[in-house]
Amino acid sequence: MGISVCLVGLGQFGAQFAELYRNHPMVDRLALCDLDAERLAKVAHGCAVAECYRSLDEVCRSDIEAVVLITQPWLHAEQAMQVLRAGKHVYSAVPPVYGPDGERLLEQLDALVNTVRQTGQLYMLGETTCYRAEVSYCRQRIAQGDFGQLTYGECEYWHDLDNPNSNLRQVDRARWGREWGPDKRGAIPMHYPTHATASMVDIMQTRVASVSALGYQRPDEDWFLRDAYWGNVFGNEVALYRMANGAVVRHTELRRVGHPGREGFRLFGTEGSFLWDEGGCRWGTREGVAAVDVNIAREPLPPALAANLGGHGGSHAYLVHEFVSACAEGRQPRIHVWQAARFMAPGIVAHQSALRGGEPLPVPDWGEPPA
Ligand SMILES: NC(=O)c1ccc[n+]([C@@H]2O[C@H](COP(=O)([O-])OP(=O)(O)OC[C@H]3O[C@@H](n4cnc5c(N)ncnc54)[C@H](O)[C@@H]3O)[C@@H](O)[C@H]2O)c1
Repeated sequence: MGISVCLVGLGQFGAQFAELYRNHPMVDRLALCDLDAERLAKVAHGCAVAECYRSLDEVCRSDIEAVVLITQPWLHAEQAMQVLRAGKHVYSAVPPVYGPDGERLLEQLDALVNTVRQTGQLYMLGETTCYRAEVSYCRQRIAQGDFGQLTYGECEYWHDLDNPNSNLRQVDRARWGREWGPDKRGAIPMHYPTHATASMVDIMQTRVASVSALGYQRPDEDWFLRDAYWGNVFGNEVALYRMANGAVVRHTELRRVGHPGREGFRLFGTEGSFLWDEGGCRWGTREGVAAVDVNIAREPLPPALAANLGGHGGSHAYLVHEFVSACAEGRQPRIHVWQAARFMAPGIVAHQSALRGGEPLPVPDWGEPPA
């Protein structure tokens, strides 16, 4: 039996998911929702979807079974809890929680996990990194034992503020809209950590145990300012993690970087290593390093989705398939709320450490889903 889904948030990113949900063979009924009537009408027309809602409140009152939230980041946590309490499954775009106050974000993560536990509904985080072919490839290599003992990793999300392809000043202004004002400048880099942390936590099947981090403050800074909403002066943040499996990981979140941008990682074991950066993807051993085709590790998809995988390394189709399948089968999705917390909490605590000059701090953990 298929399910009914409502896609809420049809902005720059959300609109890209409408066709994938419409085409999924297990989606019997697709509805769309946005506060912005023009956006809603445009996507509904483009995808020939008739069922439309003007607000999340309306969706929560409906008989829709599963809600996909691709709204602004600071809305995710409260909206996801609202959906869960309404007795529906929920998918949230990253990050699971967002805002300037780390302690508050950790409290929100705690509330999110508890709401999933109490309601018994499913929660999935839409972290694109988990369905990139590079990550699938490493998962396979881990399963075959090819890395040996995992010793060291590097992961990064580099996105310069003035990147000509995606200018973060403009992205932030557009997302905050009427609420913008001059004070919303300077978002904390480590409060958007999941694209980077997800690779290490997912592949290693472990969690971050502790962190020591430092921040970089540009001397002629005009964006990362102490007196703005975020109270943040760090344009770049660099964290060193001790993983629960003993490995060490370096994580860089750079917003001030003369570079076109990068989501990548390297992972090293006693027997093998994987490198992904501008040089492409390579597998290494003591004997040498050679290019590899990571697409051989892609998992199967329904044919209706396989023809067009969507953006972010072809991850979109997999995210849709995993959420729909988990809801239809009544099982936890791969990126359940406990895993979402393991992607998010390290960044929150990294920023706290950076504010204390690199003091090592333990990273809280919410464990695994109940059996
Ligand atoms: N690689 C990735 O995983 C990736 C990439 C891009 C964006 N994102 C995430 O996707 C999210 C959306 O980004 P975007 O650029 O599309 O933002 P956006 O501001 O363009 O779109 C958000 C939309 O949500 C709608 N919305 C907000 N509250 C609503 C409500 N209560 N009811 C109905 N509609 C509501 C808004 O009207 C808006 O159209 C962000 O959280 C961002 O972090 C993730």
